Amino acid sequence: MKKIPLIIDCDPGVDDALAIILANSIEGIDIKAITTVSGNARIEYTTRNALLIAELLDLDCIIAKGAEEPLVKPLLTGTNIHGHDGLGGCVKLFPNEIRKKLSKENAVTVMRDILINSDEKISIAAVGPLTNIAMLLKVYPEVKEKIEQISVMGGAIDNGNITACSEFNFYADPEAASIVFNSGVPLIMAGLNLTNNATLTEEELKEMKAIKTRLADIAVQMTSGYISKDAAIHDPCAILAISNPEIFEYKDLYIQIDTRDGITRGMSYADYRKNYKSNCKVLTKLDVDKFRNFMVRSLRV
Ligand code: RIB
Ligand code: CA
Repeated sequence: MKKIPLIIDCDPGVDDALAIILANSIEGIDIKAITTVSGNARIEYTTRNALLIAELLDLDCIIAKGAEEPLVKPLLTGTNIHGHDGLGGCVKLFPNEIRKKLSKENAVTVMRDILINSDEKISIAAVGPLTNIAMLLKVYPEVKEKIEQISVMGGAIDNGNITACSEFNFYADPEAASIVFNSGVPLIMAGLNLTNNATLTEEELKEMKAIKTRLADIAVQMTSGYISKDAAIHDPCAILAISNPEIFEYKDLYIQIDTRDGITRGMSYADYRKNYKSNCKVLTKLDVDKFRNFMVRSLRV
């Protein structure tokens, strides 16, 4: 089977962790690297968490640390949803010896090297603030032709979560989001309008509990705490949009992001004028039963 080479740029984060676990379980995905950015927690925590997840899964891929702060805006972290340690207070359940080594190169350099040296196009799943991705595209524009697509969890074409208008990842670094959405690279946007439907019921949690492995037990613990604060499992949608696009519907729309301070900071707004140009496939519908099946199966590896 031809695999999809994938870089996951993330801010683990509980739903980021579930996205990595999901990607690891999908036969058709070859994770080339996990790169970290500040967001759900400060960079030292999101990077440690990425190493913990890689250790738990025994992932054979590069782990690289990325941006500590947004391009322009002051650092904002979402620890209220993801807990003080970024993983819902579950860090203590992960392996306490991390043998996986962090790359000596930063995330942007690692992404650039993978893309330039690859003989095939690479997909990127970006599920945190887009700081690393924006820097990659600005510093190394030559890599654009080596990017198959960037599947972004971020934004919304209806309401926000961090504010009425804006979703957390785009609010945290709106300049970065604006750079990515004006880069010309093929984009898929899994915004809150879509991901808020990505939920698990007690039925799935019961099935997950019945698996009784360390991975499943940790995932259940992380998820149970997380969904009590945010019912939606956002980030895995960006993975499935790459591996299983058939479970989604989408619209080709022209999306821009407001970088100004104020009530619309980070807002992603769509231009619905007929036949207007498009810069993004905006996911609009999810087959939630199939989503739930993927999430339960991801723990049966
Ligand atoms: O708004 C949801 C997004 O913000 C998710 O990626 C979550 O992990 C946080 O980063
Ligand atoms: Ca995230």
